[in-house]
Amino acid sequence: MTKAVYPGSFDPMTNGHRDIIARAASVFDEVVVSVMVNVSKKYLFTVPERLNLLSESLKDLPNVRVRAYEGLLIDLVREEKVDVIVKGLRNATDFDYENTMDFYNKRMAPQVESVYLMASHEYVHLSSSAIRELMAFGGDVSGLVPPLVEEALRLR
Ligand code: PNS
Repeated sequence: MTKAVYPGSFDPMTNGHRDIIARAASVFDEVVVSVMVNVSKKYLFTVPERLNLLSESLKDLPNVRVRAYEGLLIDLVREEKVDVIVKGLRNATDFDYENTMDFYNKRMAPQVESVYLMASHEYVHLSSSAIRELMAFGGDVSGLVPPLVEEALRLR
Protein backbone atom coordinates (compact mmCIF):
# COMPACT_ATOMS: atom_id res chain seq x y z
CA MET A 1 0.00 0.00 0.00
CA THR A 2 1.66 3.21 -1.18
CA LYS A 3 0.36 6.46 0.20
CA ALA A 4 1.18 9.83 -1.37
CA VAL A 5 0.61 13.44 -0.40
CA TYR A 6 -0.09 16.19 -2.93
CA PRO A 7 0.39 19.56 -1.18
CA GLY A 8 -0.47 23.01 -2.46
CA SER A 9 -2.24 26.29 -1.91
CA PHE A 10 -5.15 25.48 -4.27
CA ASP A 11 -6.30 29.13 -4.35
CA PRO A 12 -8.33 28.07 -6.24
CA MET A 13 -8.05 24.49 -7.45
CA THR A 14 -7.71 24.30 -11.25
CA ASN A 15 -8.27 21.51 -13.77
CA GLY A 16 -4.47 21.22 -13.87
CA HIS A 17 -4.48 20.28 -10.17
CA ARG A 18 -7.31 17.84 -10.79
CA ASP A 19 -5.40 16.23 -13.63
CA ILE A 20 -2.32 15.64 -11.44
CA ILE A 21 -4.47 14.33 -8.56
CA ALA A 22 -6.40 11.91 -10.82
CA ARG A 23 -3.16 10.63 -12.37
CA ALA A 24 -1.53 10.26 -8.93
CA ALA A 25 -4.62 8.36 -7.77
CA SER A 26 -4.10 5.86 -10.58
CA VAL A 27 -0.46 5.29 -9.53
CA PHE A 28 -0.72 5.29 -5.71
CA ASP A 29 -3.13 3.42 -3.45
CA GLU A 30 -4.09 6.52 -1.51
CA VAL A 31 -3.56 10.22 -2.24
CA VAL A 32 -3.89 12.83 0.50
CA VAL A 33 -4.47 16.28 -0.99
CA SER A 34 -3.37 18.83 1.57
CA VAL A 35 -4.20 22.53 1.60
CA MET A 36 -1.02 24.10 2.97
CA VAL A 37 -0.13 27.58 4.12
CA ASN A 38 2.54 29.25 1.98
CA VAL A 39 3.71 32.11 4.22
CA SER A 40 4.65 34.33 1.26
CA LYS A 41 1.15 34.27 -0.24
CA LYS A 42 -2.07 36.18 0.39
CA TYR A 43 -5.09 34.02 -0.30
CA LEU A 44 -8.39 34.79 -2.04
CA PHE A 45 -10.23 31.81 -0.54
CA THR A 46 -10.16 30.73 3.12
CA VAL A 47 -8.86 27.27 4.03
CA PRO A 48 -12.41 25.89 4.67
CA GLU A 49 -13.54 27.28 1.28
CA ARG A 50 -10.58 25.71 -0.51
CA LEU A 51 -11.18 22.41 1.29
CA ASN A 52 -14.83 22.42 0.28
CA LEU A 53 -14.08 23.18 -3.38
CA LEU A 54 -11.47 20.40 -3.48
CA SER A 55 -13.67 17.83 -1.71
CA GLU A 56 -16.65 18.49 -3.95
CA SER A 57 -14.58 18.51 -7.15
CA LEU A 58 -12.73 15.28 -6.28
CA LYS A 59 -15.55 13.17 -4.87
CA ASP A 60 -15.51 10.83 -7.87
CA LEU A 61 -11.97 9.71 -6.91
CA PRO A 62 -12.46 7.15 -4.09
CA ASN A 63 -8.81 6.87 -3.04
CA VAL A 64 -8.35 10.63 -2.67
CA ARG A 65 -8.74 12.37 0.71
CA VAL A 66 -8.62 16.11 1.32
CA ARG A 67 -7.30 17.83 4.44
CA ALA A 68 -5.56 21.01 5.61
CA TYR A 69 -2.23 21.37 7.36
CA GLU A 70 -0.52 24.42 8.78
CA GLY A 71 3.17 23.66 9.18
CA LEU A 72 6.05 22.01 7.40
CA LEU A 73 5.19 19.53 4.69
CA ILE A 74 7.68 17.08 6.19
CA ASP A 75 5.80 17.13 9.51
CA LEU A 76 2.59 16.30 7.64
CA VAL A 77 4.43 13.46 5.88
CA ARG A 78 5.44 12.09 9.29
CA GLU A 79 1.96 12.54 10.80
CA GLU A 80 0.21 10.86 7.87
CA LYS A 81 2.99 8.25 7.41
CA VAL A 82 3.01 8.86 3.66
CA ASP A 83 5.60 7.24 1.41
CA VAL A 84 5.99 9.92 -1.26
CA ILE A 85 5.34 13.56 -2.00
CA VAL A 86 3.72 14.21 -5.38
CA LYS A 87 4.24 17.47 -7.24
CA GLY A 88 3.25 18.63 -10.73
CA LEU A 89 5.76 20.29 -13.05
CA ARG A 90 4.66 22.68 -15.79
CA ASN A 91 7.92 24.29 -16.82
CA ALA A 92 11.48 25.23 -15.84
CA THR A 93 10.21 27.76 -13.27
CA ASP A 94 8.35 24.99 -11.46
CA PHE A 95 11.46 22.81 -11.72
CA ASP A 96 13.68 25.44 -10.07
CA TYR A 97 11.14 26.07 -7.32
CA GLU A 98 10.61 22.37 -6.63
CA ASN A 99 14.35 21.70 -6.74
CA THR A 100 14.80 24.18 -3.88
CA MET A 101 11.83 22.75 -1.96
CA ASP A 102 13.37 19.31 -2.39
CA PHE A 103 16.66 20.56 -0.93
CA TYR A 104 14.92 21.67 2.29
CA ASN A 105 12.65 18.64 2.49
CA LYS A 106 15.57 16.21 1.95
CA ARG A 107 17.60 18.07 4.57
CA MET A 108 14.85 17.46 7.13
CA ALA A 109 13.85 13.96 6.01
CA PRO A 110 16.37 12.32 3.62
CA GLN A 111 14.33 9.10 3.40
CA VAL A 112 11.24 10.80 1.95
CA GLU A 113 11.14 10.77 -1.85
CA SER A 114 9.30 13.20 -4.10
CA VAL A 115 7.76 12.14 -7.40
CA TYR A 116 7.13 14.68 -10.15
CA LEU A 117 4.38 14.33 -12.74
CA MET A 118 4.70 16.46 -15.87
CA ALA A 119 1.60 18.61 -16.39
CA SER A 120 -0.60 17.41 -19.23
CA HIS A 121 0.03 19.62 -22.24
CA GLU A 122 -3.36 21.33 -22.15
CA TYR A 123 -2.67 22.54 -18.59
CA VAL A 124 0.92 23.73 -18.96
CA HIS A 125 -0.10 27.41 -18.98
CA LEU A 126 -2.72 27.08 -16.26
CA SER A 127 -2.14 28.61 -12.82
CA SER A 128 -4.31 29.67 -9.90
CA SER A 129 -2.91 33.21 -10.12
CA ALA A 130 -3.88 33.53 -13.81
CA ILE A 131 -7.37 32.24 -12.97
CA ARG A 132 -7.74 34.83 -10.18
CA GLU A 133 -6.63 37.59 -12.56
CA LEU A 134 -8.95 36.47 -15.36
CA MET A 135 -11.93 36.39 -13.01
CA ALA A 136 -11.07 39.76 -11.46
CA PHE A 137 -11.46 41.36 -14.89
CA GLY A 138 -14.41 39.30 -16.09
CA GLY A 139 -12.46 36.85 -18.26
CA ASP A 140 -13.74 33.42 -19.26
CA VAL A 141 -12.39 30.58 -17.11
CA SER A 142 -14.71 27.82 -18.35
CA GLY A 143 -12.86 24.55 -18.95
CA LEU A 144 -9.94 25.75 -16.83
CA VAL A 145 -11.43 25.09 -13.38
CA PRO A 146 -14.10 22.67 -12.07
CA PRO A 147 -17.66 24.10 -12.45
CA LEU A 148 -18.01 24.59 -8.69
CA VAL A 149 -14.83 26.69 -8.58
CA GLU A 150 -16.09 28.78 -11.51
CA GLU A 151 -19.29 29.43 -9.56
CA ALA A 152 -17.38 30.32 -6.38
CA LEU A 153 -15.19 32.75 -8.33
CA ARG A 154 -18.21 34.38 -9.93
CA LEU A 155 -19.75 34.98 -6.51
CA ARG A 156 -16.55 36.64 -5.26
O1 PNS B 1 0.55 25.70 -4.51
P1 PNS B 1 1.83 26.26 -3.97
O2 PNS B 1 1.60 27.60 -3.28
O3 PNS B 1 2.91 26.35 -5.01
O4 PNS B 1 2.33 25.21 -2.86
C1 PNS B 1 3.52 25.43 -2.16
C2 PNS B 1 3.51 24.62 -0.87
C3 PNS B 1 2.33 25.05 -0.01
C4 PNS B 1 3.38 23.14 -1.23
C5 PNS B 1 4.85 24.89 -0.13
O5 PNS B 1 4.95 26.26 0.13
C6 PNS B 1 4.94 24.09 1.17
O6 PNS B 1 5.25 22.92 1.17
N1 PNS B 1 4.65 24.79 2.32
C7 PNS B 1 4.72 24.18 3.63
C8 PNS B 1 5.99 24.66 4.37
C9 PNS B 1 7.18 23.81 3.97
O7 PNS B 1 7.27 22.64 4.31
N2 PNS B 1 8.11 24.40 3.19
C10 PNS B 1 9.26 23.66 2.68
C11 PNS B 1 10.56 24.05 3.36
S1 PNS B 1 11.03 25.72 3.05
